[in-house]
Amino acid sequence: MKEELVFPKVITGTHGPEEGAGAGTPWPDDVPPNQDDTWYPLRDDPWRARQVEVLIALLWGVTAICGIGLMIVYWTGGQAQLEGVLMFGGFAALAAGLVIWARKLVPGQEVTASRGEHTSDPDERSGVVTSLERGTRPMLTRRGFLLKKVLVPVGGVFGLATLWPLASLGSRPDRALFHTKWYPGARLVTEDGRPIRVDDIVVDGELTVFPEGFIEDAMSAAVVINIGTDKMQSRTVNGFNQAGFEVGSGPNGIVAFSKICTHAGCPVSLFNVLSMQLICPCHQSTFDILKSCEPVFGPASRPLPQLPLGVRPDGYLIATRDFVEPVGPGFWNRGSEP
Ligand code: FES
Repeated sequence: MKEELVFPKVITGTHGPEEGAGAGTPWPDDVPPNQDDTWYPLRDDPWRARQVEVLIALLWGVTAICGIGLMIVYWTGGQAQLEGVLMFGGFAALAAGLVIWARKLVPGQEVTASRGEHTSDPDERSGVVTSLERGTRPMLTRRGFLLKKVLVPVGGVFGLATLWPLASLGSRPDRALFHTKWYPGARLVTEDGRPIRVDDIVVDGELTVFPEGFIEDAMSAAVVINIGTDKMQSRTVNGFNQAGFEVGSGPNGIVAFSKICTHAGCPVSLFNVLSMQLICPCHQSTFDILKSCEPVFGPASRPLPQLPLGVRPDGYLIATRDFVEPVGPGFWNRGSEP
């Protein structure tokens, strides 16, 4: 039994178009002689083809109107339902136009031939290659009005409209991601805005603090700890040796670190005084305070950034500068401030 195969009509032959490297190559005997890859449903009715072109242009006009409407609605404050309707209308009209174009005006048909004993010879194969390389250019350039005068400008307007909401992403973060609200001389205050002194934190005590005036800024949250007479192993970060970041005298050794976990940004809110470790409750990353808050367990791969501290003559704790490295997760593992 012969197996039926479907050949695209791009294969040229004696019954097909006159051009192409495969012209002149005979088709198998059972291929209808009237196959022609320039044929399309309205080829013999130019008036009707013109009407269809106008219909497509009108549909894409609807797309452009929807795009402009979308921009106006968005610009004037936005209304989610209306924006959805306009976006749907724009895409639907665009798709309808493309479908009609493809079905009525684009040449193309399938040629069915039985496999039989027929095998492609080199000329046929090179004919296929030529046809593929020629691609869809002829069928598109034949519709220059639709392509250049309608589709390209309409696509531009509607594309712009759909990109318009990117403005909602806000202004570029620029260097803001590299810094927090800490500044030289900023007093450390509690969550209710109360400034703290060195002796407000007992040995082995811990407190969440913010820069004065910025208690709402979560990225600036720091945890300040009195490690007593323990010595913290220092490390050098971005040219700063953290050995000098500890303050206090006698039994008080005060250090402060970012409270934002370097794994995924949860607040590091658990303090194990026996092991002198800070623990993130989200995925249990554990930071060894006496090792400059290096991670010793869990998925975090970067230490908690340390906040350099100082003491004012009146005893209030202050920051001497911002964290020496960016706070938070992931992205910062790939580099420091440019
Ligand atoms: S966010 Fe802290 S361990 Fe995952």
